[in-house]
Amino acid sequence: MPTDGGGPSADGQTPVLEARHLGRTLRLGATELEILRDISFGVQRGEFVTLMGPSGSGKSTLLGCITGLDTPTSGQVLLNGVDVSRMHESQLAGIRNRSVGMVFQAFNLIPTLTARENVEVPLYAGSWRGSPSRRAEDLLGLVGLASRLEHRPNQLSGGEQQRVAIARALATEPPLLVADEPTGNLAATQGKEVMDLLWSLREHLGTTFVIATHDAAVSRYATRTLQLADGMLVGDAPGPRAGAR
Ligand SMILES: Nc1ncnc2c1ncn2[C@@H]1O[C@H](COP(=O)(O)OP(=O)(O)OP(=O)(O)O)[C@@H](O)[C@H]1O
Ligand SMILES: [Mg+2]
Repeated sequence: MPTDGGGPSADGQTPVLEARHLGRTLRLGATELEILRDISFGVQRGEFVTLMGPSGSGKSTLLGCITGLDTPTSGQVLLNGVDVSRMHESQLAGIRNRSVGMVFQAFNLIPTLTARENVEVPLYAGSWRGSPSRRAEDLLGLVGLASRLEHRPNQLSGGEQQRVAIARALATEPPLLVADEPTGNLAATQGKEVMDLLWSLREHLGTTFVIATHDAAVSRYATRTLQLADGMLVGDAPGPRAGAR
């Protein structure tokens, strides 16, 4: 049972992420589209959750409501017990910068910046206490790109670009990383490298993951699988790696 203040659950842990009765409607002319309907779930630290469901079922919209790219029409999103769904933009920016990282299908790197500079961006935005340049170097080393620091996105392969995007998403040490089809633009081998990397980050950094995907190869990494259909949460089950520590 979730508590109203977003406090610890029965086992004493505050969920990294909690959605409470989330709804998202869109008005299109005279019609009201219900894109998300009454979605509730919690995610505990260390879970590796895949979000599956047909095209148009609401996966990207749900991730957008979690990361603040979108605003739910009703319900709440809590990050580490803090309700971010109704916060003002000024408060929100700092909290989101530290609480959740986002990785996209199309990488979304800034084309004029080097790999290192791309990773530094959230550190400047969030006034990182150490040297952004050092931090970016460490993270790019962690994702296996120590020899690509000064490359620009068009000088990197798709898999390498996605690894830069992962390093950027992790720059401010968020406990939660949300990814929308992270392997969607990659060949199978590169997709596997990216997924192995994410899984290793779960082990090394203790990061929690929520990943929307159509890709069966991605869902094989899941400790838990959420299923959306027509804007509703219709499945919540242990994944193939449920027992992993
Ligand atoms: N800005 C918008 N205006 C109108 N409809 C929208 C808008 N954004 C999303 N939708 C609709 O909301 C529904 C959910 O879209 P969403 O992108 O979340 O689905 P998805 O599960 O991520 O699909 P896919 O697997 O194709 O990425 C779709 O029916 C979509 O057409
Ligand atoms: Mg989508």
